[in-house]
Amino acid sequence: MLVLGIETSCDETAAAVVARSQSGHGRIRANIVRAQWEEHRRYGGVVPEIAARAHVECLDGIVSEAMRTADVGFGDLAAVAVTAGPGLIGGLLVGLTTAKALAMAQGLALVAVNHLEAHALTVGLTQGLRPPYLLLIVSGGHTQLLLVRDVGRYRRLGTTVDDALGEAFDKTAKLLGLGQPGGPAVERSARHGHPERFALPRPMLGRAEPHFSFAGLKTAVRQRAQSLAPLSAEDVADLCAAFEVAAAQTVADRVRLAMATANDELGAPGRRHFVIAGGVAANGRLRTALAELAASAGYALHVPPPALCTDNAAMVAWAGAERLARGWTDGLDVPARARWPLDPDATPALGFGRLGAKA
Ligand code: KG4
Ligand code: ZN
Repeated sequence: MLVLGIETSCDETAAAVVARSQSGHGRIRANIVRAQWEEHRRYGGVVPEIAARAHVECLDGIVSEAMRTADVGFGDLAAVAVTAGPGLIGGLLVGLTTAKALAMAQGLALVAVNHLEAHALTVGLTQGLRPPYLLLIVSGGHTQLLLVRDVGRYRRLGTTVDDALGEAFDKTAKLLGLGQPGGPAVERSARHGHPERFALPRPMLGRAEPHFSFAGLKTAVRQRAQSLAPLSAEDVADLCAAFEVAAAQTVADRVRLAMATANDELGAPGRRHFVIAGGVAANGRLRTALAELAASAGYALHVPPPALCTDNAAMVAWAGAERLARGWTDGLDVPARARWPLDPDATPALGFGRLGAKA
């Protein structure tokens, strides 16, 4: 079964073709991603309207490129799967409208995919791992701990009450005068740094629920930077190293707590699985901390390859194929959703806004 996937929820325009066998094995036939860093660079962050326009301008070409690379025609497809949320509404509408038009014109099934579910199920495509498992999503837009019980069944254990971890890396890089994306820049600088020079806070450490908070950590870096200005390369490296260590230790503490909650459901030590997804999973210091933790708690650690950890459409096509295999498709009236929690029963970590839970 071949599925075309489309992803436009943030600043990557992506299309992919994925095959799923009857026994549930996946294979990527094409995976095209176009990042928009150039368009947003001068603003120091993603501008939603610019992102939406860039998606409009290049999505058709990227879909064609994916179909050409996979060497398939629309008649060979079983469905078109598209990210319908959560994300920036303008970009979501571009992807969803394109997918609906294709589904209607070509007589294909439509599958509306939750972007977080796509991240959550990627290990099924890359490693053949099936639920249940514990999942940490750490990206520029999301920081969540989820118990993946089955396709379509998730329990949210923890989330951030303010910044996502990748966002905290990006803002820290910006305030230290490093380039974007900030995560890799901070990691490069941190390699030459001495983390013990600065005592930074460990937000949420010891709290009873595995939630996250990174705004205070970023502010602490800003305060140290302001009191030292002008900063030498050594100051920047030491601050980056201290930030990374504080972030890694905080995340490890929260994951330890989530593991304690999930242990019973995930079986005996050695049979439990822990998955990290999202762009920040590329961070060496974080991975080392989480690998040590996983080993000591009896969890096997799985991290999809970097190109499938960051935003892509292969994960969307795969999640769509998993849903389609269960007979779950959507009508042409399915809406785009800026907010779309994977676990609708999760109690909000921080109050409600007009559109629902804020975190
Ligand atoms: O998953 P992703 O590609 O996109 C979304 O946010 O949806 O994640 C991008 C985030 C950015 O914030 C980037 O700075 C961060 O992942 N990142 C890293 C590293 N590589 C990428 N953060 C820390 N260390 C890295 N090596
Ligand atoms: Zn993502």
